Amino acid sequence: MAIAPTIERFNRTERGLHWTHSASFFALLITGLFLYFPALGDLAAKVYLAHLTILNLHVLSGAFYIGGPLLFWLLGDRGSLRRDLHALDVWDDDDVRFLAEPGAILAEGHDRPPAGRFNAGQKVNTILLAAAAIGFGVTGLILWQSSHLPAWAGFAVQGSVNLHDILAVVTTALVAGHIYLAALHPTTRPGLAGIFGGRVSRAWARLHHPKWVAEEEAIGRRATGDRRQTAVGDHPVGDVDSAARVDAVEKLRADR
Ligand code: HEM
Repeated sequence: MAIAPTIERFNRTERGLHWTHSASFFALLITGLFLYFPALGDLAAKVYLAHLTILNLHVLSGAFYIGGPLLFWLLGDRGSLRRDLHALDVWDDDDVRFLAEPGAILAEGHDRPPAGRFNAGQKVNTILLAAAAIGFGVTGLILWQSSHLPAWAGFAVQGSVNLHDILAVVTTALVAGHIYLAALHPTTRPGLAGIFGGRVSRAWARLHHPKWVAEEEAIGRRATGDRRQTAVGDHPVGDVDSAARVDAVEKLRADR
């Protein structure tokens, strides 16, 4: 099979989930700033945007922030999301070494411990952002319904105000770092194509996610009946459809 110069990194479900979650994050951030800073609230009032309207927009964005990913899980290609969860969940010695080397995140691919589908920095970022989304959801619900809560629940409301604000600061810092790496830093920027069009350069992926590419290529070979050993740098095959992929993954696991 012909060697494809690019490799599929994210399918439609993964990209749709990413962009629904991130667009609603920015909507939450902007409406949240208007709710938090009285000067911005006054500015909005001048163009007839009442505090309540902004609050409703904020709550609606929150529903997409949590509900969007759930919808993609329910209606999208769940297999690919399961594969991502597995990739985020499994840690090896290279991940630990990656975290122990502070400069690894900014280094050229060959100067870092070899990564799988996600490097350890991406794993930490995703876990923290997912935990923050749950925290936002719980505290947001409490704040939204605070007028219906009994007086004794006052401590939960005050705690939610504080935690909601802390989460906003922490996630904004994480997302700022994420955008810098995804869109600006020269060694990681080539990955941007994957979150827009789905595919990235195979050469870049081999440098930055060598263990993932090796596994994908082994799956490709399995699906096409070529039983050579997996090694980074082997001749790659093209992408395989999902039925052939599942079959190949099962055979690969059975062989281990
Ligand atoms: C303009 C804004 C953004 C851009 C350009 C962007 C870009 C990207 C890219 C290129 C990837 C794939 C990296 C790879 O190939 O491994 C990615 C993954 C990801 N993005 Fe974004 N993103 C943006 C906003 C956000 C926001 C707002 C969030 C969350 C609130 C977010 C959360 C994630 C997560 C959790 C991943 C998976 C792992 C990782 O790379 O950290 N992104 N993003």
